[in-house]
Formats: sequence, C-alpha cells, structure tokens
Amino acid sequence: MKVYKIAQIPGDGVGRDVTAAAWAVLTKAAEAGGFRLEGREFPWSCKFYKETGAMMPADGIETLRGFDAILLGAVGWPAEVPDSVSLHGLLLPIRKAFVQYANIRPHRLLPGVQGPLKAEGFDILCIRENTEGEYSGAGGRVHQGMDNEVAVETSIFTRKGVERIIRFGFEQARARRGKLASVTKSNAQKYSMVLWDEITKALAAEYPDVEVTSYHVDALAARMVMAPESLDVIVASNLFGDILTDLGAAIQGGLGFAASANINPDRSAPSMFEPVHGSAPDISHLGIANPIAAIWSGAMMLEHLGEAEAATAVMTAIARTTAAGIGTVPGEDKTDTITKAVLAAIA
Ligand SMILES: NC(=O)c1ccc[n+]([C@@H]2O[C@H](COP(=O)([O-])OP(=O)(O)OC[C@H]3O[C@@H](n4cnc5c(N)ncnc54)[C@H](O)[C@@H]3O)[C@@H](O)[C@H]2O)c1
Repeated sequence: MKVYKIAQIPGDGVGRDVTAAAWAVLTKAAEAGGFRLEGREFPWSCKFYKETGAMMPADGIETLRGFDAILLGAVGWPAEVPDSVSLHGLLLPIRKAFVQYANIRPHRLLPGVQGPLKAEGFDILCIRENTEGEYSGAGGRVHQGMDNEVAVETSIFTRKGVERIIRFGFEQARARRGKLASVTKSNAQKYSMVLWDEITKALAAEYPDVEVTSYHVDALAARMVMAPESLDVIVASNLFGDILTDLGAAIQGGLGFAASANINPDRSAPSMFEPVHGSAPDISHLGIANPIAAIWSGAMMLEHLGEAEAATAVMTAIARTTAAGIGTVPGEDKTDTITKAVLAAIA
C-alpha cells in the first residue's frame, strides 16, 4: 500500500480545529482510495514561540524536508506575538526554503453558497508568485521618527522568478480551459512590469494553444467583479496576487471557502497546503470555524500527491455538504457538524 508522510502544523486559534477536520476527511478518503496518510504533528505556533523563543526549532526546515507534503492550519496570535514575528518565523521561511514559488488559489462558488455577485458560473484559478517581487523584504528606513524620515521598499523581479511563475500559469491554463490572464501594471511600473510583459509575450510563442491576455491589475480587479466567468487562469506578482485572491475569496462567499496551495513545481521539496484564512482569534473559542477551506486545501494536497480520484471524492463530498445547506452561512453551523457531514458524504 502506498504511504505518504504528511507533516501537520495546526498552528494557532481556529487553525487547530480546521486542521483536525481536514485530517479526519483526508484519512477517510485515503482509506477508501487504498493508500495511507502517515501524519506527524508539529506544535509550532505562537504558543511554541512563547515557550521556546522561536516559532520552530533551528532544525525545523530540515525536519520538514523529509515529508511528502505539509498541511498547515493558520499561524498568528497578535495579542501575544507580533504578526511580523509569527509570519517571518514560520510561514515565510518554509515557503522560501522549499522554493514554493507558486501559490495557487481556486475561486468558484460551491453549490448552495451565496456569493455577493449576480454571476455564479465562474471558475478561476489564481496563481500568485510566492517568493520575490514586492514582498522581497529589500529596503530600509533612515532618520526614523524624524520629520525627514525616509522608507524605501524595493521590489525584486528576477528573470528566473518571473519566467517560472508565468510558465506555470501557461501550464495550468493548458490543463484547464486554455485561457491565461497575465496581471500587469506596465503603464506605471516601467521596469518590473515591462519585464513581466516581455516574458509573458516570449512564452506565449511556446503555448500557441493558450489564449493569453495582459490586463492592468486595476482593470482585472473590476473584471473579477463584473465578468468573473470570462476568466480562467490568472497569473500575478506577489502583491497583486495577494490582493486579487482576497477579492477572489470574497466573490466565492468568504474566507471559509478559500483554499490554497504553496507549490514547489519541480518537486525538489515538499509543498504546503493551507486555507487562506488566519487563526480568527475573534471566533476561535466558539467552535464555529468553517473547515471547508482547510478540507479543500487537503483535496489539493491529494491531487498534488497524485491521488486524483481521492481528491475528487473529497471535493464531491464538500459539494454534497454545501448543496444540503450545511456550512454555507458563516457562523450558523459548528465546525464539528460540517466535518461530520463531509465525512458522511465521503462514505
Ligand atoms: N496563513 C496564515 O497562517 C495566516 C493568514 C492570514 C492571517 N493570519 C494571522 O491570523 C491572525 C488573525 O488575522 P485576521 O483576523 O486578520 O484574519 P483571519 O483570516 O484570521 O480572520 C478574518 C475574519 O474572517 C473570519 N474567519 C476566518 N477564518 C474563518 C473560518 N474558517 N470560518 C469562519 N470565519 C472565519 C474571522 O472570524 C474574522 O472575522 C493574525 O495573527 C494574522 O497574522 C495567518
């Protein structure tokens, strides 16, 4: 029997509840699919930071390297640990060390879920560059606190980094409906985004079967609201992708449904699967976090591991659950109720 080694990092707040829910569903799907998920849980979190002074041990990255995939809940507890510490101490080092340069997020309405738009028949895959660009962390501040203070933040766009993410976008479009929207702002950003456009154009020649269109980010944001059904795959830089995927989460009914995967496309290191949402401290004591985003992220993990049938079984079970009106209205159903419904739908 095929066995996959999965590192589980539930993290903080609702991350713990939704990871447990996803794990229950995934292990059941594995059982039905004739393979096994062997999980090992790591307590790395803000609580771990308060106990040890670090978000993960010094050899954390090397420990994770031996796994086939990482399933993460959410990390952050701003009342006790600054977000800059929790993010830079765990999530970002993992994404960077394992070259998870493609952050992919599906945006579509599950059956029974009401989105804020009139449009319903959209199915978008947003791909966000995950390792460089506007979030490279290059910059500094001088004369801090003085009238003449200056802050400089430099975006870093490398030919290698841009080329590989846009190529990944073309590949995804080829495997779906053959349409790629490349997100730019080259009218205003005349270096980085002109490079982005040039590379998009050069790669287009290698993918004659993919219809590629370059959109300015502001125009694309409007299109996601006005005509989301006209979009298939979107490829964007780190900052643009960050903003557009929050918009994507909103049009699909909210953070309870927004799944994501941090992919290392050449499979030289494990990829990481996590819901888009955070630890939700405001509701974490209530047991009402929607586990669907985490379960959907788990289905993406199964797909990545090559267990497409089991991934489809999980997605079908989610769809049956929401079609029955369970988990569709924020706060109405308990995490446990939704999880049990998905488990029953798998059976
Ligand atoms: N990838 C991550 O680990 C990640 C992502 C985003 C935020 N964070 C961290 O989480 C903490 C809280 O951040 P925030 O409040 O800005 O964002 P959040 O995503 O935790 O919460 C935003 C709002 O959405 C609601 N919400 C979130 N997930 C939900 C779910 N599954 N079901 C129902 N409602 C849900 C929350 O109750 C809240 O009202 C911060 O420390 C932040 O840094 C972590």
